Amino acid sequence: MARIVKRTQTGPLKIEIPGGQPVWICQCGLSKSQPRCDGAHKTARTEEPGKLYQYDAAGNRKEITDAFGDITTF
Ligand code: FES
Repeated sequence: MARIVKRTQTGPLKIEIPGGQPVWICQCGLSKSQPRCDGAHKTARTEEPGKLYQYDAAGNRKEITDAFGDITTF
């Protein structure tokens, strides 16, 4: 089974751990260390507003037509 998920966040969520180091949770979907952020979101910061991009397993980006306009984003 496969699914398409749109991600619009371009940075991680910081979780404070009492008595420990903070944990950074990936919100962009590009981290290879899910659920933790690995810094791959820096690529998403150069995305243009209003455009839709697809990334391959190597992290290469291409712009695609938004044929899934009704998909919920987060
Ligand atoms: S938020 Fe996804 S890699 Fe950092």
